[in-house]
Amino acid sequence: KIPLWLDCDPGHDDAYALLLAAHDPRVDLLGVTTVHGNASLEQTTFNARGMLEALGKRNIHVYPGAAKPIVREAVHAADIHGESGLDGVTLLPQPIEPAVTDVDYLEAMYKALIGTPPETAWLVSTGTLTNIGLLFQKYTDLAGHLKGLSIMGGAVGGGFTNAPMGKVKDEGERFGNWTAYAEFNIYCDPEASHFIFSHPVLRAKTTLIPLDLSHQVLGTKTVRHTLLYGSEQPLDASTANTEQTPSPLRALFTQIMSFFAGTYAEVFSITEGPPLHDPLAVSAAIDPEFFDDNGGERFRVDIVTEGVHSVNQLQVGELGRTKVTKLPPGEGGCRIPRGVDLEKFWGSIESCLKRADSV
Ligand code: BDR
Ligand code: CA
Repeated sequence: KIPLWLDCDPGHDDAYALLLAAHDPRVDLLGVTTVHGNASLEQTTFNARGMLEALGKRNIHVYPGAAKPIVREAVHAADIHGESGLDGVTLLPQPIEPAVTDVDYLEAMYKALIGTPPETAWLVSTGTLTNIGLLFQKYTDLAGHLKGLSIMGGAVGGGFTNAPMGKVKDEGERFGNWTAYAEFNIYCDPEASHFIFSHPVLRAKTTLIPLDLSHQVLGTKTVRHTLLYGSEQPLDASTANTEQTPSPLRALFTQIMSFFAGTYAEVFSITEGPPLHDPLAVSAAIDPEFFDDNGGERFRVDIVTEGVHSVNQLQVGELGRTKVTKLPPGEGGCRIPRGVDLEKFWGSIESCLKRADSV
């Protein structure tokens, strides 16, 4: 099995990352940490616990991590995920299993990961990089021990792919989703991000899933139909038996996707379906062959850390921008896939839902 630790800020798309990490039969989910980001740490922790319970994985421990970035103040994405970080979704009013607060979360991550055979374990990050930055600052032997670090974050732009990127009405072309240049996870903690992407060992073990890739993976009508009724039902809604009552879990993941679709349509005018960023970072760890890295391209990633960190996103310049430089063949750098096999990716979501429903 692939030992895997998930650091997240649920988050509608983080919920799908939890689904893959918790129910892919090849994964041994060692634990989950939460971070400030889409909402406050308290909310993202509540949401992670609630989701694991809905997924039938009460036994997976959740450790609350950092409540704010290393040097800046926290910003949240209520426009996209609602005040709770997971608006529009019915979870248990109070998770039955509480989060673990009597153990230091960095120590918990370290012990679980260092206890795995060398070069087998993956650390997956679907939130901002504060916890991850602090972890590798504190435990300097961990980077060499891991197999890989998979991060959802950043925006490359400049024709990196032909994906339709996020556009805000009347604002013209942009490739970030938080500012014109910056993606939310990197923007939230640019200093932690800079530490990770310039780390001498980690940078060659890192896979980055930027917006350029995640905007190719939209929760279209067809995707949502399959989510609700399963893959046995014909894809054409007119011939499918839509009378069939979906399982509570399918109904929950449909609620999640529908809310996300609503905010992406409203804020970014993306009406085809919302980009499902976060589960791609799990997928890249466990199914790297789903991804097209253009014959093994590797990149150096520089993070812009100068600028004002502003809650209202005004006057921030290029703060949080991910500047990407392609490296000569053979030089170790970050893997940034340009494409993904959509059929295989959605197929893995579907099989995890089936599996989750059967346990
Ligand atoms: C990232 O930001 C968050 O809002 C999402 O959960 C995802 O991790 C996309 O930019
Ligand atoms: Ca996230």
